[in-house]
Amino acid sequence: MYQILVVGTRTRQQALARALGSLFELDFQQLPGAFQTMPRRHTVIDIDLSDDAQLLPLKSWLSRKPNDAKVIFVTDKASRLQEARAFALGATAIIHRPIGAQTLLAKIRDDSATLATIASAPDRDFPAGIAAGVDTLQSIFSAAGAGTTVDSATVHSASNAIVDQLEARGLSSWIDTVRMHHSQTYQHCLLVTGIVAGFGEHIGVSRKDRQRLSFAGMLHDIGKARIPLAILEKPGRLDENEMAIMRKHPEYGLDALGAAEGLSAEMLDMVVHHHELLDGSGYPHGLQASEISDLVRIMTISDIFAALIERRAYKPPLSCEAAYQILLDMGPKLDRDLVRAFKFVSRIGQNAAA
Ligand SMILES: [Fe+2]
Ligand SMILES: [Fe+2]
Repeated sequence: MYQILVVGTRTRQQALARALGSLFELDFQQLPGAFQTMPRRHTVIDIDLSDDAQLLPLKSWLSRKPNDAKVIFVTDKASRLQEARAFALGATAIIHRPIGAQTLLAKIRDDSATLATIASAPDRDFPAGIAAGVDTLQSIFSAAGAGTTVDSATVHSASNAIVDQLEARGLSSWIDTVRMHHSQTYQHCLLVTGIVAGFGEHIGVSRKDRQRLSFAGMLHDIGKARIPLAILEKPGRLDENEMAIMRKHPEYGLDALGAAEGLSAEMLDMVVHHHELLDGSGYPHGLQASEISDLVRIMTISDIFAALIERRAYKPPLSCEAAYQILLDMGPKLDRDLVRAFKFVSRIGQNAAA
């Protein structure tokens, strides 16, 4: 019988004992008490991964695990963000709720259950640009969530792969494929990246500038890595308090990228100001039109459009035509010339969104 250290909450203890007790000998510990012991060769962690206060001490505790240890995190099935956080903390494998004894046994016996195979499995069939984008988003969201430095070289290479794919297969195919991705946050970032680079191509910006737009598209919502998962993945509309927390993500993004190398001021500008509006009603700084750069204006239009054509738990996806009408209805909040130029992109997307 395998001996397993289970780190979890008191409320989960009984359910875990029922699910695992037949096959495993369990030593149950709660946080922070578990930090007084050492991680074991077989450790299962079933905690709330949106509780940021626990994450850094947990990471440093897990760094003391035996070399051949299996550290298996329990996450919700639909949450790629929880998985990314688990791997950033030192998970060797993931198991989804509701946890079963046989599944756990298989994980413990399977030495090949690594980050690479588990994290990328659902995306294996995606084209190269999207696969690169998803891998990069996983790694930058993990880094930002765990408070470590974001690797800008990885983002650069994924941005290039995305621009290549857009040139080869077009924006319509990009939108079509990305909308199949199951993680809402990653889907949004990939959609924005494709749309902003495709929009840039249409209005004649250079390839180098399109790479900058693509790069900023990947990073623009990186601050969401620090928003509690309960808010980020809430299956409904946010209330006022939750919205106030969500609105901190542009500044969290700037904070997360502060130590990263190779990021230009224009890219950081797009990250922190992509929710600013020309009439001063945006956030976080309530900038006026003259303070908002052209690149930020392009990013904002692409960001709003992407959000509108996405499926969310509380709303169906809008058609591209309806989404474009909303941009028109926003009037003085958006750059009128750019919105006019954007009509081309909205028509391309229309076929893909059908
Ligand atoms: Fe955002
Ligand atoms: Fe966004």
